[in-house]
Amino acid sequence: MGVIFLDKLVIKGNTKLKGEVHISGAKNAAVALIPATLLIEGVCTITNVPNISDVKISCEILEQLGSKITWISNNEIIIDNTDINCTDAPLDMTSKFRASYYLIGSLLGRCGRAVVGLPGGCNLGARPIDQHIKGFEALGTKVEIAQGKISASAKNLIGTSIYMDMVSVGATINVMLASVLAKGTTIIENAAKEPHVVDVANFLNTMGADIRGAGTDVIKVNGVQKLQGNASYSVVPDQIEAGTFMLSAVATKGDITIRNCIPEHLDCLTAKIIELGANVEVDNDSIRVWTNKKINSTNIKTQPYPGFPTDLQPQMGVCLAIANGTSIIREDIWDSRFQYTAELNKMGAQITDQGKSAIFQGVKELYGAPVSASDLRAGAALIIAAIVAKGESTLTNLSHIDRGYENIEEKFRNLGANIQRISE
Ligand code: EPZ
Repeated sequence: MGVIFLDKLVIKGNTKLKGEVHISGAKNAAVALIPATLLIEGVCTITNVPNISDVKISCEILEQLGSKITWISNNEIIIDNTDINCTDAPLDMTSKFRASYYLIGSLLGRCGRAVVGLPGGCNLGARPIDQHIKGFEALGTKVEIAQGKISASAKNLIGTSIYMDMVSVGATINVMLASVLAKGTTIIENAAKEPHVVDVANFLNTMGADIRGAGTDVIKVNGVQKLQGNASYSVVPDQIEAGTFMLSAVATKGDITIRNCIPEHLDCLTAKIIELGANVEVDNDSIRVWTNKKINSTNIKTQPYPGFPTDLQPQMGVCLAIANGTSIIREDIWDSRFQYTAELNKMGAQITDQGKSAIFQGVKELYGAPVSASDLRAGAALIIAAIVAKGESTLTNLSHIDRGYENIEEKFRNLGANIQRISE
């Protein structure tokens, strides 16, 4: 019988984080850009690619479809999609992460056909894809969902107007992908404005597409015959990774300079961190966060960009768990994104999970404990909590964290954290 090694992190806490950290390329951009390359009947180069498991599996899937992928370095890839010869993505692989749904928009655009397993990803409650399907059908696609897979086919994709019932990052990007090579113009209204939506549009335009208005709530895609490719594109810095380190400076009463980030993408968080009583200094592509004060309580409501990002909600939760007084977080994007609070309560926090909101009764300090990551951002939050806590913590279920953070323990160690990954 094969031996399974399970990694865990062992963290000795009571540490103030100090120093500099370099931010990687954005996970939520990279996992869209890689399938988007399928729209190019040729070669392109992508740099600043985060070396994370979601990226690796995206590349493996493309190779199954006929792509030739060359890793020039840990963070640079050349993708040659000249000979795509399959439009059925391997079901066992697509269910491992959420962004596999971008294969549908790209394969539809390139080949008029796509068969992809229902997407996986973090368990944050219901994650329907009705808006993706609404968009594909509006463009003239026939969509069927059966036996755990989505089959989509279209003789001709015809540009049209699509009004999204709610702001959806995934649906906005997927409809954009399907309309790049469509006949005529597609208008996407009530579109998502996240930095990764803009990054995908910029990438496609670099490769020869004609997309306007990304970053606003109305995106216009003028269909083109072909994407030339033969160009290089650098993935946008990860807004959420940068925010994770900004909040770890607040929680540990540290002093961290976050390099290679885009400060404007973090305006909302910066305003909240100042409300917490910490200091923020912004420069061209870096942000310094420092404090030696007790954290002020505050209230948070997660919203689509440029509102407070739901993917920083758990990390903010750690700060509010040790703040002065009572705070409330209202989670307006996902139905169940407070699973991490039960783990924080094992560390001495006093948090009441009420489903779509949670009440944080600030405590003086946290204590080390064995905890487990329920999803990617919960995992990052628990690392921060363990670095703050008195004593030793262990953190399991690291596969969630490895899906979205590149070398996270090394980056924290370079800031002074006592953190070790051990295999058992
Ligand atoms: C993206 O998920 C991100 N994932 C998520 O980050 C992030 O939490 C989310 O956007 C919101 O910012 C990736 O980019 C791979 P949505 P996505 O479509 O596209 C509802 C992380 O930690 N909705 O914007 O799946 C949906 O239920 C991950 O990196 C529909 O009802 O999110 C949710 O309530 C976790 N029907 C809301 O819209 C649809 O067809 C926003 O979802 C689509 C969405």
